[in-house]
Amino acid sequence: MPLPKPAAPERRRPLVVAIDGPAASGKSSTAKWVAKELGFRHVDSGALYRAVTAAALARQADSQEWSEDDVLAAAAVVRLEPGETSFEPRLGDAAIDDELRGAAVTAAVSLVAKMPRVREWVNARVREAAAGHPVVVDGRDMGTAVFPRARVKIFLVADPWERAKRRLLQRFERLPTDEEIAEETDALVRRDAKDESQTQRAPEAVLIDTTYLTQEQQVERIVALARSAMRLSR
Ligand code: C5P
Repeated sequence: MPLPKPAAPERRRPLVVAIDGPAASGKSSTAKWVAKELGFRHVDSGALYRAVTAAALARQADSQEWSEDDVLAAAAVVRLEPGETSFEPRLGDAAIDDELRGAAVTAAVSLVAKMPRVREWVNARVREAAAGHPVVVDGRDMGTAVFPRARVKIFLVADPWERAKRRLLQRFERLPTDEEIAEETDALVRRDAKDESQTQRAPEAVLIDTTYLTQEQQVERIVALARSAMRLSR
């Protein structure tokens, strides 16, 4: 009797590195750098929530008037443009990086992110991006709701004062004063509270406290974890 043919090797899914954490914990800049080091693409799920918010603002400036259906209708113009090392959100053909970080979007984004069907819409876009290419994704629930089987899961934390200082350094390109840092710390802590329900740490995620780490050190640790996962899955 002929021997049975060996089963065809299972088609491997592209590797996912999921980085979660609170506002201004350095997720996106770290994820971008990690993606470059590994030759993966970066997907910033927060930027997608921000892009949907910008699209909703373009249709109706008063966020109190928005229904979930309005926001989903606005999301129809949002797409992810694949680049060499990232997927960038676009409104139609327009690049919108500056607008996404602006005060109007930041004030309304937590409201949008609480809408269950908007979360499903964002999650579907992120999963589509990850289906064909290895990715580094960052957000609040990437290692839990979106990619529960991600092979590398990281949860970044940092002291709120330090997070506020880093954010202002980036924004002002100078050293912020203590008063400025205190005000920004307050804003960050309030946003953390608004986002609490959707910020989930997977129990198996590696916790990295970046308060006393340089960005280079954070990146090195995550790249090492990803390389080890890649070796194990060969
Ligand atoms: O990461 P970033 O601060 O740009 O995210 C903007 C907002 O998007 C967060 O304040 C949060 O409300 C929402 N968000 C989320 N789930 C994610 C990523 C972001 O609810 N996975």
